[in-house]
Amino acid sequence: MSQSSALPAEQYNYSIVRRFTIMAMVWAVLGMCVGVYLASELAWPFLNFDIPQLTFGRLRPTHTTMVIFGFGGSALFATSYYIVQRTSQARLAFPWLAEFTFWGWTGGVALGVLSYVFGITQGREYAEFEWPLDIAITLVWVSYFAVYVETLRRRNQPHIYVANWFYLAFIVAVALLHIFNNLAVPVSLTKSYSLFAGVQDAMTQWWYGHNAVGFFLTAAFLGMMYYFVPKQAGRPVYSYRLSIIHFWALIFLYMWAGGHHLHWTSLPDWVSTLAATFSVILLMPSWGGMINGIMTLSGAWDKLRSDPVLLFLITSLSFYGMSTFEGPLMSLKSVNALSHYTDWTVGHVHSGALGWVALVSFGSFYHLIPRLWDRKMYSDTLIYVHFWLATIGIVLYITSLWVAGIGQGLMLRSFDDYGNLAYTFIETVEFMHTPYVWRALGGAFFVAGTLVMVYNMAMTIARRQAAAETQLSAQPAHA
Ligand code: HEM
Ligand code: HEM
Repeated sequence: MSQSSALPAEQYNYSIVRRFTIMAMVWAVLGMCVGVYLASELAWPFLNFDIPQLTFGRLRPTHTTMVIFGFGGSALFATSYYIVQRTSQARLAFPWLAEFTFWGWTGGVALGVLSYVFGITQGREYAEFEWPLDIAITLVWVSYFAVYVETLRRRNQPHIYVANWFYLAFIVAVALLHIFNNLAVPVSLTKSYSLFAGVQDAMTQWWYGHNAVGFFLTAAFLGMMYYFVPKQAGRPVYSYRLSIIHFWALIFLYMWAGGHHLHWTSLPDWVSTLAATFSVILLMPSWGGMINGIMTLSGAWDKLRSDPVLLFLITSLSFYGMSTFEGPLMSLKSVNALSHYTDWTVGHVHSGALGWVALVSFGSFYHLIPRLWDRKMYSDTLIYVHFWLATIGIVLYITSLWVAGIGQGLMLRSFDDYGNLAYTFIETVEFMHTPYVWRALGGAFFVAGTLVMVYNMAMTIARRQAAAETQLSAQPAHA
């Protein structure tokens, strides 16, 4: 990239990036603590203390909203606003609109979470916001689109770097999904009914749900990967041509696969088969992207020995590869008959959510923080500590849920010699108690790692402030 038209660092709008980064970490801590609490409730149900606001049903959407939209969403806003400015070598367009996206998004997620605790929900997974909040979120999203596209239009570079393609696809697809899945008839300020009914309603919801995974939790984070992995490795991306094929194949294929969430239901069988077929083909672009990211390090593998930030980024890609192998496997109807309604699904979710989404975000933030606050990280050792706590946490989480899920699935399908079910449902629940305890422990490890990062980040920022104050007090009064 030509550096001739590069803007000096202070010309970029980093203030919004900093705030979204801080908010991402606030949501990460809150959302993951609720995750550990939920995991503990499943192991020790008395923990709901018969208080409605603490019951699993209310806290679960609170968790998913805080981690996906609070943590994941803020991380995406932060990194996309940073990347679009740096790769376009232009300042963020419409600063007031960008401000609005910060307050609108943060306020929207906070209000949504509060509303679930008090029992106000649409009851659509990952789209629980009631209609007034849906409209507010739409406004925020349109503003996001305007800021992003206008910044790209003002670029001082002939080329739009591939990371921006992934972010743009995410912004456009999420707008489409959000609007169609939330078409509803309001009956009061806090209650509405979906415009769709029966199996069409289910299909719309899972078209949304699956593509929320495909575009929110995957495409956008791939945008993050395409910028931060080459930057941190100090090398160009392994194959730019592969990144283009990866992009088009991924966005084309994801849209068709939602039906794999509804195997063995009243969904027509051919829709199920179509979804399974596309899910299996999805393995190819997913692995193409993973390979492109990991191979960026080829010829420089030794950097993994000395750079903890690269460890985060490359490990995240390995988990991405693992969960996108597991997903197509689970989309086969015969495998899904075993995995659906069990914790295998929840394990799959978290190998993607913790292993891929959270690790790639943490790695990107470790790259970003020193640049945003213009100071080295407070401690590299603490980055290693974080890495190991997080990795041990993920491994405990997903292996315990393989045991719980596959074990329960097999128990529910066992028959005795007379054709009766071999186990009662409650026996499967008893069986899952031990793996549930291990999962809660895994979650606690993961949260501990996140807290270490928050400490490291706070110390980095505080040092900067302290340094700035010292500088200020050393200046003559007229300066
Ligand atoms: C310390 C970390 C975490 C812990 C302990 C944790 C724990 C949990 C628990 C106990 C559930 C409920 C599972 C059930 O319904 O049986 C859950 C659901 C979920 N969590 Fe997490 N979570 C964590 C982090 C995350 C993160 C970072 C994300 C996303 C970026 C995430 C996304 C989800 C999703 C999508 C579900 C719904 C899963 C499904 O319906 O199959 N979680 N989590
Ligand atoms: C090629 C890629 C992937 C395919 C084909 C795939 C496929 C699947 C399948 C078959 C299920 C189980 C559906 C069911 O039985 O109800 C599932 C659930 C899920 N997957 Fe994936 N998966 C992929 C990648 C990922 C990744 C990378 C993530 C996270 C970042 C993810 C997040 C989820 C979530 C959140 C659910 C649970 C939805 C729910 O029931 O609430 N998936 N996926």
